[in-house]
Parts: sequence; structure tokens; C-alpha cells
Amino acid sequence: MTLARLTEVLAPAVASGVGLGAFNVFSIEHAEAFAAAAEAAGTPVVLQISQNAVRYHGALAPIAQATLTLAGSAAVPVVVHLDHATDASLVDEAIALGLGSVMFDASPMPYAENVAATAAVVRRCHEGGLDAEAELGEIGGKDGVHAAGARTRPEEARAFVEATGVDALAVAVGTSHAMTERRVALDLELISALHAAVPVPLVLHGSSGVPDEELVRAVQAGMTKINIATHLNHVFTDSVRATLADNPSMVDSRKYLGPARDAIAAEAERLLRLMNQ
Ligand code: CO
Ligand code: CO
Repeated sequence: MTLARLTEVLAPAVASGVGLGAFNVFSIEHAEAFAAAAEAAGTPVVLQISQNAVRYHGALAPIAQATLTLAGSAAVPVVVHLDHATDASLVDEAIALGLGSVMFDASPMPYAENVAATAAVVRRCHEGGLDAEAELGEIGGKDGVHAAGARTRPEEARAFVEATGVDALAVAVGTSHAMTERRVALDLELISALHAAVPVPLVLHGSSGVPDEELVRAVQAGMTKINIATHLNHVFTDSVRATLADNPSMVDSRKYLGPARDAIAAEAERLLRLMNQ
């Protein structure tokens, strides 16, 4: 059944004022865990493969096809999404593979170039039957530097969406990527202003640095797609580290990957329930 396009799961989330969890897949264990978490929570989910993860594997197709297979047999709608693509040929590959959406990240470019590059990708995605997310107001941290100071201006965001035809917009409201502690305070007034000004669903990147209560407030203020990668990575790696520390002679990788998969499935399910209350 249930491979979905991004807009198919965003629209009902916006209508009922809940969040849509978007979690990053690094290996097949992540895809298995997040599909199971969504089934347990009874919610849709977005399984994201970033351009950095593609670089790690050396190709998009193997990890994408495994993720698409898992998504297609899930009992809830699952979107397989290419995250933070800057390479247009990778977008074409995602279209050919049948992913549900692409996030094209031209946010470091000057405004006019971001608009032109994003509009071209959006057109290709729509022709190929995919939805497209873009970013305005560079959200820091992907270079390892925490720059949570960037802010997206509501009027510019509205104009950007109109000029590009994008289906969802990532905005800078106080988060930064790759945060390993959950203590960020978001600019909730700006989220409300963006939600009022922008005609498409908003996306929060760098949500790993945001504590539970603040995630709930972000959704209430008008955030819909909530991207969480580093926090779940933390949970996965803590589990592996603990298992290996307790079992120094362990050899079978399944014996430490299995508990780590269970740990991120439980945490992802908890986050999906939190965002869907
Ligand atoms: Co991001
Ligand atoms: Co609303």
C-alpha cells in the first residue's frame, strides 16, 4: 500500500494542527525502526535520506530502494524523501527511483539565485510526480558550526513560495543542525507570523536541539514537518556503546544493532505521539 507524496500527509497534518515526524535514515535499521514506530503510533512518517547519507553509501539507489520497499509495506502512509540535496542530478535520480519528495537546499545562495535554482527543481519534481521542499534563511550547523541566529522574514517567505511553487518551506526560527543537547528556545512569535504569511506547510530543521515542550509549542504555533536526525542518532549510538561496554567480547553485529534499532523505534514512536496529541 502506502508510499505517499509529501503533500498527501502534510495536508491532513495542517488541517488537524498536528506535527509530521521526519526522521533520517542512515542504514536499513533506521528505516525499519521508523516504519515500525509510525505503525505503532498510528501516524504517517517521513523517512529522509540526505545527500550526506548518499555520499556515505556512495549511491542513492541501494538505500532508497530498501527504504521504499519498507515504506511500501507499512500499514500507515510513509514518504521517502531526499533531504538537503544540492546536486540537481541527485534530484533526477530521486525522481527516477520514485521517491515522494525532495528537499532542495539552495539556502546559502543569494535570494534571487535561490529562487531561480529552487523553481527549476520544483518544476522537475512536479513533472515527475514528486513534491518539493526548499529552505529560506540558512539554518546553520551543517558545517559543524552552530549558527542559530538566522531568521526567515515572513514577507520574503511568502514571495519565495509564490515565485518557486514549492510545496513546503524550511524556515530559520532559532534552531541549528546537529545539536547534541535539547535546550533551544524557538522564536514562537516568528513561527506564528510565518504560518500566517506563508501559504504552504512550514518545516523545522535542526529539531534535535529542541526539548519536548518546545516542539509541542512549535507545532501549536504553526510548524508542521519536524525534522529530527541527530537526537535519534544519539539514542542509537548510546545504545550501541552501552551494549558493547557490557559485552566486550560481542562479535555478532546484530546483537548490538538490534537493541539500537529497538531504542530508536521507541523514541521515534514517543516523538510521533508527542507531535500528534
Ligand atoms: Co536539515
Ligand atoms: Co494552522
